Amino acid sequence: MLIDKFGRKIEYLRISVTDRCNLRCVYCMPEEGINELKHTDLLTFEEIVDFTKCAVSLGINKIRLTGGEPLVRKGIVGLVKMIADIDGIDDLAMTTNAILLKEFALPLKEAGLQRLNISLDTIDGKKFQQLSRRGNLQNVLEGIDLAMKCGFRKIKLNCVVQESRNEPNAVQVAKYAAERGLEIRFIRTMKLSTGEFWIVDGGKGGNCSICNRIRLSSNGKVLPCLFSDIGFSVKEFGGCEAIKMAVESKPLKGSLSKTHEFYNVGG
Ligand code: 5AD
Ligand code: SF4
Repeated sequence: MLIDKFGRKIEYLRISVTDRCNLRCVYCMPEEGINELKHTDLLTFEEIVDFTKCAVSLGINKIRLTGGEPLVRKGIVGLVKMIADIDGIDDLAMTTNAILLKEFALPLKEAGLQRLNISLDTIDGKKFQQLSRRGNLQNVLEGIDLAMKCGFRKIKLNCVVQESRNEPNAVQVAKYAAERGLEIRFIRTMKLSTGEFWIVDGGKGGNCSICNRIRLSSNGKVLPCLFSDIGFSVKEFGGCEAIKMAVESKPLKGSLSKTHEFYNVGG
Protein backbone atom coordinates (compact mmCIF):
# COMPACT_ATOMS: atom_id res chain seq x y z
CA MET A 1 0.00 0.00 0.00
CA LEU A 2 1.18 3.52 -0.78
CA ILE A 3 0.52 5.97 2.05
CA ASP A 4 2.05 9.42 2.00
CA LYS A 5 3.41 11.43 4.94
CA PHE A 6 -0.01 12.96 5.54
CA GLY A 7 -1.88 9.65 5.62
CA ARG A 8 -3.35 9.87 2.14
CA LYS A 9 -3.65 6.49 0.42
CA ILE A 10 -2.29 6.75 -3.12
CA GLU A 11 -4.20 4.48 -5.49
CA TYR A 12 -4.59 6.44 -8.71
CA LEU A 13 -1.99 6.82 -11.47
CA ARG A 14 -2.41 9.13 -14.45
CA ILE A 15 -0.13 8.36 -17.37
CA SER A 16 0.61 11.03 -19.98
CA VAL A 17 1.47 9.02 -23.10
CA THR A 18 2.39 11.99 -25.32
CA ASP A 19 2.79 15.75 -25.13
CA ARG A 20 1.39 16.13 -28.65
CA CYS A 21 -2.12 17.11 -29.55
CA ASN A 22 -4.23 17.58 -32.64
CA LEU A 23 -5.88 20.67 -31.08
CA ARG A 24 -4.47 23.89 -29.63
CA CYS A 25 -6.97 24.82 -26.92
CA VAL A 26 -6.35 28.41 -25.88
CA TYR A 27 -6.00 27.56 -22.19
CA CYS A 28 -3.55 24.72 -22.84
CA MET A 29 -1.21 25.24 -25.78
CA PRO A 30 0.17 28.19 -27.72
CA GLU A 31 -1.13 28.64 -31.26
CA GLU A 32 2.18 27.70 -32.86
CA GLY A 33 2.35 24.47 -30.86
CA ILE A 34 4.95 23.37 -28.37
CA ASN A 35 8.55 22.27 -28.35
CA GLU A 36 7.59 18.65 -28.76
CA LEU A 37 9.59 16.01 -26.96
CA LYS A 38 11.82 13.92 -29.15
CA HIS A 39 10.46 10.42 -29.63
CA THR A 40 13.50 9.14 -27.74
CA ASP A 41 12.49 11.17 -24.66
CA LEU A 42 9.12 9.44 -24.47
CA LEU A 43 8.93 6.20 -22.57
CA THR A 44 8.43 3.21 -24.86
CA PHE A 45 5.28 1.11 -24.43
CA GLU A 46 7.41 -1.56 -22.81
CA GLU A 47 8.73 0.96 -20.29
CA ILE A 48 5.23 2.27 -19.57
CA VAL A 49 3.90 -1.26 -19.05
CA ASP A 50 6.80 -2.24 -16.78
CA PHE A 51 6.28 0.95 -14.84
CA THR A 52 2.56 0.28 -14.52
CA LYS A 53 3.28 -3.21 -13.19
CA CYS A 54 5.51 -1.65 -10.50
CA ALA A 55 2.76 0.80 -9.65
CA VAL A 56 0.10 -1.93 -9.37
CA SER A 57 2.39 -4.12 -7.26
CA LEU A 58 2.78 -1.18 -4.86
CA GLY A 59 -0.95 -0.52 -4.52
CA ILE A 60 -2.17 1.48 -7.52
CA ASN A 61 -5.53 0.13 -8.74
CA LYS A 62 -6.88 2.95 -10.89
CA ILE A 63 -5.21 4.12 -14.11
CA ARG A 64 -5.99 6.93 -16.53
CA LEU A 65 -4.24 7.53 -19.84
CA THR A 66 -3.94 11.18 -20.85
CA GLY A 67 -1.78 13.38 -23.06
CA GLY A 68 -1.58 15.80 -24.79
CA GLU A 69 -4.08 13.78 -26.75
CA PRO A 70 -3.51 10.08 -26.08
CA LEU A 71 -5.09 8.98 -29.36
CA VAL A 72 -2.34 10.64 -31.43
CA ARG A 73 0.29 8.32 -29.99
CA LYS A 74 0.91 5.57 -32.54
CA GLY A 75 -0.17 2.15 -31.35
CA ILE A 76 -2.20 3.43 -28.42
CA VAL A 77 -4.73 0.59 -28.67
CA GLY A 78 -1.90 -1.90 -28.19
CA LEU A 79 -0.79 -0.04 -25.07
CA VAL A 80 -4.32 -0.09 -23.68
CA LYS A 81 -4.46 -3.83 -24.24
CA MET A 82 -1.13 -4.41 -22.49
CA ILE A 83 -2.21 -2.34 -19.50
CA ALA A 84 -5.67 -3.93 -19.38
CA ASP A 85 -3.98 -7.33 -19.18
CA ILE A 86 -2.18 -6.43 -15.93
CA ASP A 87 -3.85 -8.09 -12.94
CA GLY A 88 -4.97 -5.78 -10.15
CA ILE A 89 -6.34 -2.80 -12.06
CA ASP A 90 -9.97 -2.11 -11.09
CA ASP A 91 -10.44 0.95 -13.23
CA LEU A 92 -8.84 1.79 -16.59
CA ALA A 93 -9.86 5.10 -18.16
CA MET A 94 -8.75 7.62 -20.78
CA THR A 95 -9.13 11.38 -21.18
CA THR A 96 -9.51 12.38 -24.82
CA ASN A 97 -10.63 15.32 -26.94
CA ALA A 98 -12.62 12.80 -29.03
CA ILE A 99 -11.45 14.17 -32.39
CA LEU A 100 -10.26 10.67 -33.33
CA LEU A 101 -12.83 8.75 -31.33
CA LYS A 102 -14.87 7.65 -34.34
CA GLU A 103 -11.91 5.57 -35.40
CA PHE A 104 -10.81 4.45 -31.94
CA ALA A 105 -13.86 3.98 -29.69
CA LEU A 106 -14.59 0.37 -30.54
CA PRO A 107 -10.94 -0.82 -30.70
CA LEU A 108 -10.32 0.84 -27.32
CA LYS A 109 -13.31 -0.87 -25.75
CA GLU A 110 -12.27 -4.20 -27.21
CA ALA A 111 -8.72 -3.70 -25.91
CA GLY A 112 -10.10 -3.37 -22.38
CA LEU A 113 -10.56 0.34 -21.78
CA GLN A 114 -13.41 0.72 -19.27
CA ARG A 115 -14.20 4.43 -19.11
CA LEU A 116 -13.78 7.61 -21.12
CA ASN A 117 -13.60 11.26 -20.09
CA ILE A 118 -14.24 13.49 -23.06
CA SER A 119 -13.29 17.15 -23.16
CA LEU A 120 -16.20 19.25 -24.37
CA ASP A 121 -16.20 22.97 -23.59
CA THR A 122 -18.91 24.07 -26.03
CA ILE A 123 -21.43 22.61 -28.45
CA ASP A 124 -21.26 25.65 -30.72
CA GLY A 125 -19.18 24.77 -33.77
CA LYS A 126 -17.77 28.27 -34.24
CA LYS A 127 -16.92 28.65 -30.59
CA PHE A 128 -15.28 25.24 -30.67
CA GLN A 129 -13.02 26.37 -33.48
CA GLN A 130 -12.08 29.53 -31.59
CA LEU A 131 -11.36 27.61 -28.39
CA SER A 132 -9.48 24.71 -29.94
CA ARG A 133 -8.00 26.81 -32.79
CA ARG A 134 -8.50 23.85 -35.12
CA GLY A 135 -10.58 20.74 -35.28
CA ASN A 136 -14.18 20.24 -36.11
CA LEU A 137 -16.87 19.86 -33.45
CA GLN A 138 -18.76 17.46 -35.69
CA ASN A 139 -15.99 14.87 -35.28
CA VAL A 140 -16.24 15.19 -31.52
CA LEU A 141 -20.02 14.85 -31.41
CA GLU A 142 -19.99 11.87 -33.77
CA GLY A 143 -17.21 10.35 -31.68
CA ILE A 144 -19.34 10.70 -28.55
CA ASP A 145 -22.39 9.18 -30.26
CA LEU A 146 -20.35 6.20 -31.38
CA ALA A 147 -18.62 5.76 -28.02
CA MET A 148 -22.03 5.67 -26.33
CA LYS A 149 -22.88 2.60 -28.39
CA CYS A 150 -19.67 0.72 -27.55
CA GLY A 151 -20.55 -0.36 -24.02
CA PHE A 152 -18.10 1.65 -21.92
CA ARG A 153 -18.84 1.46 -18.22
CA LYS A 154 -19.07 5.22 -18.06
CA ILE A 155 -18.50 8.28 -20.23
CA LYS A 156 -18.01 11.64 -18.54
CA LEU A 157 -17.65 15.06 -20.06
CA ASN A 158 -15.00 17.56 -18.93
CA CYS A 159 -16.03 21.15 -19.52
CA VAL A 160 -13.42 23.83 -18.96
CA VAL A 161 -14.98 27.12 -17.82
CA GLN A 162 -13.62 30.58 -17.08
CA GLU A 163 -15.23 30.80 -13.68
CA SER A 164 -18.37 28.76 -13.27
CA ARG A 165 -20.90 26.36 -14.71
CA ASN A 166 -23.29 29.24 -15.25
CA GLU A 167 -21.48 30.52 -18.34
CA PRO A 168 -23.47 30.13 -21.59
CA ASN A 169 -21.16 27.52 -23.15
CA ALA A 170 -21.18 25.44 -20.00
CA VAL A 171 -24.97 25.65 -19.64
CA GLN A 172 -25.36 24.33 -23.18
CA VAL A 173 -22.90 21.52 -22.62
CA ALA A 174 -24.71 20.63 -19.39
CA LYS A 175 -27.98 20.39 -21.30
CA TYR A 176 -26.34 18.24 -23.97
CA ALA A 177 -24.97 15.96 -21.23
CA ALA A 178 -28.31 15.70 -19.43
CA GLU A 179 -30.11 14.78 -22.65
CA ARG A 180 -27.73 11.87 -23.09
CA GLY A 181 -27.44 10.80 -19.46
CA LEU A 182 -23.74 11.68 -19.40
CA GLU A 183 -22.02 12.87 -16.24
CA ILE A 184 -20.33 16.24 -16.47
CA ARG A 185 -17.59 18.02 -14.54
CA PHE A 186 -16.73 21.68 -14.78
CA ILE A 187 -13.06 22.55 -14.58
CA ARG A 188 -12.20 26.15 -13.91
CA THR A 189 -9.24 27.27 -16.01
CA MET A 190 -6.09 26.83 -13.98
CA LYS A 191 -2.64 28.36 -14.22
CA LEU A 192 0.17 26.06 -13.24
CA SER A 193 2.82 28.78 -13.36
CA THR A 194 1.09 30.98 -10.82
CA GLY A 195 -0.55 28.26 -8.78
CA GLU A 196 -4.13 29.22 -9.55
CA PHE A 197 -6.20 26.10 -9.11
CA TRP A 198 -9.67 25.16 -7.93
CA ILE A 199 -11.55 22.10 -6.88
CA VAL A 200 -13.19 20.52 -9.91
CA ASP A 201 -16.96 21.10 -9.81
CA GLY A 202 -18.46 17.61 -9.89
CA GLY A 203 -15.13 15.80 -9.53
CA LYS A 204 -12.31 15.16 -7.08
CA GLY A 205 -9.43 16.98 -8.77
CA GLY A 206 -7.89 19.98 -7.10
CA ASN A 207 -8.89 18.90 -3.60
CA CYS A 208 -5.50 18.44 -1.94
CA SER A 209 -6.82 16.94 1.30
CA ILE A 210 -8.25 13.87 -0.45
CA CYS A 211 -5.73 13.64 -3.30
CA ASN A 212 -4.93 10.00 -4.07
CA ARG A 213 -2.98 10.56 -7.30
CA ILE A 214 0.45 10.41 -8.76
CA ARG A 215 1.33 11.07 -12.37
CA LEU A 216 3.73 9.76 -14.95
CA SER A 217 4.72 12.62 -17.27
CA SER A 218 5.27 12.05 -20.97
CA ASN A 219 9.03 12.38 -20.46
CA GLY A 220 9.08 9.64 -17.86
CA LYS A 221 9.00 11.37 -14.49
CA VAL A 222 6.83 10.38 -11.57
CA LEU A 223 5.17 13.51 -10.23
CA PRO A 224 3.65 13.63 -6.76
CA CYS A 225 1.64 16.78 -7.48
CA LEU A 226 0.52 18.75 -10.54
CA PHE A 227 1.23 22.02 -8.73
CA SER A 228 4.82 21.24 -7.77
CA ASP A 229 8.06 20.87 -9.73
CA ILE A 230 9.08 17.74 -7.87
CA GLY A 231 9.57 14.70 -10.12
CA PHE A 232 11.59 11.49 -10.23
CA SER A 233 12.86 9.98 -13.45
CA VAL A 234 11.85 6.39 -14.11
CA LYS A 235 14.95 5.84 -16.25
CA GLU A 236 17.21 7.18 -13.51
CA PHE A 237 15.69 5.55 -10.42
CA GLY A 238 13.66 2.65 -11.80
CA GLY A 239 9.87 2.55 -11.68
CA CYS A 240 9.21 1.26 -8.18
CA GLU A 241 11.83 3.48 -6.55
CA ALA A 242 10.64 6.57 -8.44
CA ILE A 243 7.08 5.89 -7.25
CA LYS A 244 8.16 5.48 -3.62
CA MET A 245 10.17 8.71 -3.79
CA ALA A 246 7.24 10.58 -5.32
CA VAL A 247 4.81 9.34 -2.68
CA GLU A 248 7.28 10.15 0.09
CA SER A 249 7.67 13.71 -1.20
CA LYS A 250 4.02 14.40 -2.00
CA PRO A 251 3.28 17.87 -0.64
CA LEU A 252 0.34 18.50 1.68
CA LYS A 253 -0.95 21.09 -0.77
CA GLY A 254 -0.14 22.12 -4.31
CA SER A 255 1.68 25.41 -4.79
CA LEU A 256 2.81 26.11 -8.35
CA SER A 257 4.88 24.61 -11.10
CA LYS A 258 7.21 26.37 -13.50
CA THR A 259 8.04 23.19 -15.41
CA HIS A 260 4.78 21.31 -15.88
CA GLU A 261 2.20 22.07 -18.52
CA PHE A 262 -1.21 20.49 -18.93
CA TYR A 263 -0.07 18.99 -22.21
CA ASN A 264 2.85 17.07 -20.72
CA VAL A 265 1.32 16.00 -17.44
CA GLY A 266 -2.22 15.46 -18.64
CA GLY A 267 -4.06 17.73 -16.21
N1 5AD B 1 -6.99 24.55 -16.83
C1 5AD B 1 -7.81 23.52 -16.53
N2 5AD B 1 -7.86 22.39 -17.21
C2 5AD B 1 -7.06 22.28 -18.27
N3 5AD B 1 -6.87 21.29 -19.13
C3 5AD B 1 -5.94 21.67 -20.01
N4 5AD B 1 -5.50 22.90 -19.74
C4 5AD B 1 -6.18 23.31 -18.65
C5 5AD B 1 -6.17 24.48 -17.88
N5 5AD B 1 -5.33 25.51 -18.15
C6 5AD B 1 -7.58 20.02 -19.02
C7 5AD B 1 -8.97 20.07 -19.54
C8 5AD B 1 -9.02 19.15 -20.66
C9 5AD B 1 -7.92 18.20 -20.29
C10 5AD B 1 -7.31 17.47 -21.42
O1 5AD B 1 -6.92 19.02 -19.72
O2 5AD B 1 -9.78 19.48 -18.56
O3 5AD B 1 -10.29 18.55 -20.73
FE1 SF4 C 1 -5.14 19.20 -26.71
FE2 SF4 C 1 -6.51 18.76 -24.50
FE3 SF4 C 1 -4.65 20.67 -24.52
FE4 SF4 C 1 -6.91 20.96 -25.91
S1 SF4 C 1 -6.69 20.79 -23.68
S2 SF4 C 1 -4.81 21.40 -26.65
S3 SF4 C 1 -7.36 18.92 -26.58
S4 SF4 C 1 -4.27 18.51 -24.74
